[in-house]
Amino acid sequence: MIEIKNLHKYFENHHVLKGLDLTVSQGETVAVIGPSGSGKSTLLRCMNLLEIPSTGELRLDEIHINARHISKTDLLSIRKNTAMVFQNYNLFANKTAAENIAEALITVRKMNKRIAMDIAQQMLKKVGLENKADHYPSGLSGGQQQRVAIGRALVLNPRVVLFDEPTSALDPELVQEVLQVIRNAAQEHVTMVIVTHELDFARDVADRIIFMDDGKIVEQNSAAEFFINPRQERTIKFLEKFKQQNMYYI
Ligand SMILES: Nc1ncnc2c1ncn2[C@@H]1O[C@H](COP(=O)(O)OP(=O)(O)OP(=O)(O)O)[C@@H](O)[C@H]1O
Ligand SMILES: [Mg+2]
Repeated sequence: MIEIKNLHKYFENHHVLKGLDLTVSQGETVAVIGPSGSGKSTLLRCMNLLEIPSTGELRLDEIHINARHISKTDLLSIRKNTAMVFQNYNLFANKTAAENIAEALITVRKMNKRIAMDIAQQMLKKVGLENKADHYPSGLSGGQQQRVAIGRALVLNPRVVLFDEPTSALDPELVQEVLQVIRNAAQEHVTMVIVTHELDFARDVADRIIFMDDGKIVEQNSAAEFFINPRQERTIKFLEKFKQQNMYYI
C-alpha cells in the first residue's frame, strides 16, 4: 500500500503540488488524469522520490517518510520497491530486449546471468515479444520498445508501478498493444498508478480515477461513477472538452 499525506512540492517559488492526499491499496489500479501542467508527472516522481517533495509524508508499506528529513536508506528502499515506466521507453540502446529486462536482475538483485536471462525470456513471452529477445531497441517499434520497458519494470516485482503517459509517444496503431500489456498486469493485481490521456482506457482498466487540476486532487471516484457522474465543475468541463474532440465515448 502506498499513501501520501499533505504533499507539497515547490520548484523555487512555484507551488506545483498543493497538499495532496492519496492512498493506493495493494493490487489497485489508479488512473490520474488532468490538464497539462496540473502536476501529474510531479506527483508520480514524488511517489518514487525521483523528485523530493517539499513537505508531507509518504508511506510505502512499512517504509514511512517525512519529506523534511529523508535518510539515504529510506530513499534507496523507496526507489528499489517502485518502478517507473516513462513516455519515451528509456531502454539501454546497446542492450538487447532480453538484456534490458535482465539488467536489473543481475546488477540490483545479484542474480546469476543465465538465470536472469531465462527470467527475461519468460517476461518477454508475457509481453508478447518472445521472438524479439535478441533485438536491439533500434530494431523494435515504439510499441515493442514500450512493452520491453514494461517487462523491465514488472520483472522486479515492485510494490507499485508508476506509468507516466506510457502511450503518448506512440503512433495510434501501436497504442492498443501496450494498453493490453498494462491491462494484463491489472488483472494480475499489480499495484499501478497510471497517468494517461487515454480516457477510454482509464475507464476500462482503472479501479479508481483521480482528476488533478492546478496541483490539487479535484475529484476522485470509482471508474464507473467518475465518468457517468462527475461532480465538480472543473471535472465536467475537462470531460466535455475531451468529448468535443471525440477522444472518448461513453
Ligand atoms: N523540474 C522542474 N523545475 C521547475 N518546474 C517544473 C519542473 N517539473 C515540473 N515543473 C512545473 O510544474 C508544473 C507541473 O508540471 P508536471 O510536469 O507535473 O505537469 P503534468 O500534469 O505532468 O503536465 P503534462 O500533462 O503536460 O505532462 C508545470 O508548471 C511545470 O512547468
Ligand atoms: Mg506530465
